[in-house]
Amino acid sequence: MNGYDLIRPLLFSLPAETAHGIVHGLLRASDGTPVESAMARRYRVRDPRLAVEAFDREFPNPVGVAAGFDKNAEVPGPLAALGFGFVEVGGVTAEPQTGNPRPRMFRLREDGAIINRMGLNNDGADVVGERLAGVDAPVPVGVNVAKSEHVGGADAPADYRYTYERVAEGGDFFVVNVSCPNSQGFEELQNRESMAAIVEALRDAGAAPLLIKLSPDLPEPAVEDALAIVREYELEGVVATNTTTERPASLRSENRAETGGLSGKPLEDEATRMVRFVAERVDVPVVGVGGVSSAEGAYRKIRAGASLVQLYTALVYEGPSLAREINEGLLELLERDGFDSVEDAVGADLE
Ligand code: FNR
Repeated sequence: MNGYDLIRPLLFSLPAETAHGIVHGLLRASDGTPVESAMARRYRVRDPRLAVEAFDREFPNPVGVAAGFDKNAEVPGPLAALGFGFVEVGGVTAEPQTGNPRPRMFRLREDGAIINRMGLNNDGADVVGERLAGVDAPVPVGVNVAKSEHVGGADAPADYRYTYERVAEGGDFFVVNVSCPNSQGFEELQNRESMAAIVEALRDAGAAPLLIKLSPDLPEPAVEDALAIVREYELEGVVATNTTTERPASLRSENRAETGGLSGKPLEDEATRMVRFVAERVDVPVVGVGGVSSAEGAYRKIRAGASLVQLYTALVYEGPSLAREINEGLLELLERDGFDSVEDAVGADLE
């Protein structure tokens, strides 16, 4: 039994977003204090075999925090102290947004999943950009850049560009989020012309390394279109995947009928399939995300072609020791299979 086993029932007796707020608040309170250093001693796994170099950045280990956990870039330092090798903050939009009415985040406990329809609530690019400039985290910090709610398709490129310019200084890499199922008109954003216009505007503004985050719900031809853009604009990477609007028949929890994006266990296999699909077609690092909750799950994505992995939902269910468990487990799996490093294992299952 670890400490989180004691706290989880209390957190789970509260609405999901309230519990998240408490955890986030504790992390904020630890920032820059001896508690943060104590967490780092307890949770960081230092081993050169875990280190990954991707898009010209050095990652101490391949396990990152996915977008949405730290929307306003308040806790990259404490998350690094929990042992994560990188943090993607955001989604950030040009203007501050309150998001959808609560409740808008739901646990599906029996399924190890979450459904959320947050609607990109965040402090806006001006505030987050300023905060980011003051962040001093020992791991790379990526910024997830999203479209403002009220902005129509034609104005989307300028909207993304505005946000990028505000967060540029504080980010180590940038992720174009065209795959949030809770933002209006997101389907349109994922057609080839829209994606190209957005990416072009960001490239013109100097955005690099620039990655694109894809939806697991995209039909294959649309994924091919996105990958054509990756090649055409020489993007530095692909994040696969965002949440799904699908509802697998296997879901058992009462909350399965809620509207929004599904994340966690039920997304795992589909996300891994997408990692493989992408890795087979483009020659840039893939960040694998969706249902990672263990070393074995992280390893499956790595072997399917992911250079890095991320997670959010499993952190809710497994608690603060998860990054350490995954990193320690990865070292065992590498040893078992005769790999010298994580980088050695990337894409091992590809033809
Ligand atoms: C997310 N996710 C997300 N993604 C994104 O690109 N921008 C965002 O703002 C958010 N916000 C967000 C909020 C909440 C409450 C959740 C649960 C998720 C998606 C997230 O980054 C990730 O792609 C999926 O959750 C799949 O990973 P997990 O949760 O299965 O590990």
